Amino acid sequence: MNKVDVLLGLQWGDEGKGKIVDVLTPNYDIIARFNGGPNAGHTLEFNGIKHVLHIIPSGICRKEKENVIGNGVLIEPVIFQEEISSLEKIGFSPKDNLLISEKAHLIVPTHRLLDAANEKSKGDRKIGSTLKGIGPAYTDKIARTGIRIGDIFEDDFMAKYNKLKDSHIRNIKALGYQVNDFKIENKSLEEYEKEWFNAIDLLKKLKVINTEYYINEQIKQGKKVLAEGAQGTMLDIDFGSYPFVTSSSTVTAGVCSGLGIAPQNIGRVFGIVKAYCTRVGSGPFPTELFDNDGEILCQQGKEFGSTTGRKRRCGWLDLVALNYACMLNGVTDLILMKIDVLDDFATIKICNKYEIKGEKTEHIPYNMEENKINPIYDEYKGWKKNVSGVSSYNDLPKEMKDYIEEIEKRMNIPVSVVSISPDRKDTIFRKELK
Ligand code: GDP
Ligand code: IMO
Ligand code: MG
Repeated sequence: MNKVDVLLGLQWGDEGKGKIVDVLTPNYDIIARFNGGPNAGHTLEFNGIKHVLHIIPSGICRKEKENVIGNGVLIEPVIFQEEISSLEKIGFSPKDNLLISEKAHLIVPTHRLLDAANEKSKGDRKIGSTLKGIGPAYTDKIARTGIRIGDIFEDDFMAKYNKLKDSHIRNIKALGYQVNDFKIENKSLEEYEKEWFNAIDLLKKLKVINTEYYINEQIKQGKKVLAEGAQGTMLDIDFGSYPFVTSSSTVTAGVCSGLGIAPQNIGRVFGIVKAYCTRVGSGPFPTELFDNDGEILCQQGKEFGSTTGRKRRCGWLDLVALNYACMLNGVTDLILMKIDVLDDFATIKICNKYEIKGEKTEHIPYNMEENKINPIYDEYKGWKKNVSGVSSYNDLPKEMKDYIEEIEKRMNIPVSVVSISPDRKDTIFRKELK
């Protein structure tokens, strides 16, 4: 029996998960998403193509591999349909190698309106949600009022849909708004609903199955599975900077509940980490930079959201948060991304402790409100060299290797892979990940 390997983000999302899933896919038979939904934006670059995926797993651009959307994922049919057609436009046939869990929950149009209404009602305490309906759809799942993919084949689907829609409209009114105060992708509810029902017809033609039986049978037969996470550990519903989090389990435990994998069947855990930090949306971010260094990270790293286009907040690497994330996830290998973005810095900083009310700590505090945390940094000499095109670890500048090995030493986990560009080919392996 093979174990399921896991790949997930250790920071606030957008670490570069999509790129590495695509790079590692040749080592696996099945790539399976376990959480999140269209809030995710996972970017792949190869052969001059740049492609962003939201709901569909990042193994989809390797035609011979199977991709599974697990029960822990949320599906928004219109966005899903658009993803299918944009993959078809670049020569892939995602319908052939995609399996969908009958237990995955649906995002209905009024979830998206409710997301917008909730955000507006929070004023300057808004979460900065992606407005894809994530919070309301997971709320319905937990409240046991949600609609699952399997329901679209049932006779009472319309009755369930209307009941849910009515309850959302009541909630929107209770917040003091009217339904037509909000739009979905610039469309009215009625206009968007038409597209949504057309997209449901497409979903009905795809392979909707019990994915937990499927995956467990496959691993019993010796097949190799990679579980792909969305978002990052610091956005986890339990362990992230609550309430500025997403509404799903983004950590390794989420693989068990989001795909139906028993804990003893979890194998290696690949933790994806940027060589610095970013965050999009509101919420505490201890090492955030408001100066020119932050601006350089943003420009060099092209830190604009893959899903919403929003500018990402940037800051130095935070080892307090990284250590916490490694502990929660049982990370076996670190995969260090975007180190090329630091090429121009004469000095690079790493936060190793927080100072809170005069006390030093290496722990994440209960209340992470940013003005209370003073990050304490160590400084490292930059390499001031362009590393594009380098293909072996030994050929990287000495100062860069020192920086990488420092992270490895502090975390006591090997940095097995280093990524130096968005492209599939610019990935340096220090260790085989097979
Ligand atoms: P994900 O959500 O974790 O899959 O990450 P995103 O795709 O949202 O954001 C990562 C961004 O960084 C994308 O635009 C990638 O193409 C890009 N990227 C990934 N790896 C590297 C790298 O090593 N260097 C640089 N400069 N960009 C990278
Ligand atoms: P990937 O998979 C970065 C953030 C949003 C917001 C908060 C809640 O590409 O790494 P939600 O729409 O989930 O209710 O928003 O979480 N967020 C992400 N930030 N990357 C993501 O996904 C994210 N998905 C959600 O910006 O602050
Ligand atoms: Mg992303």
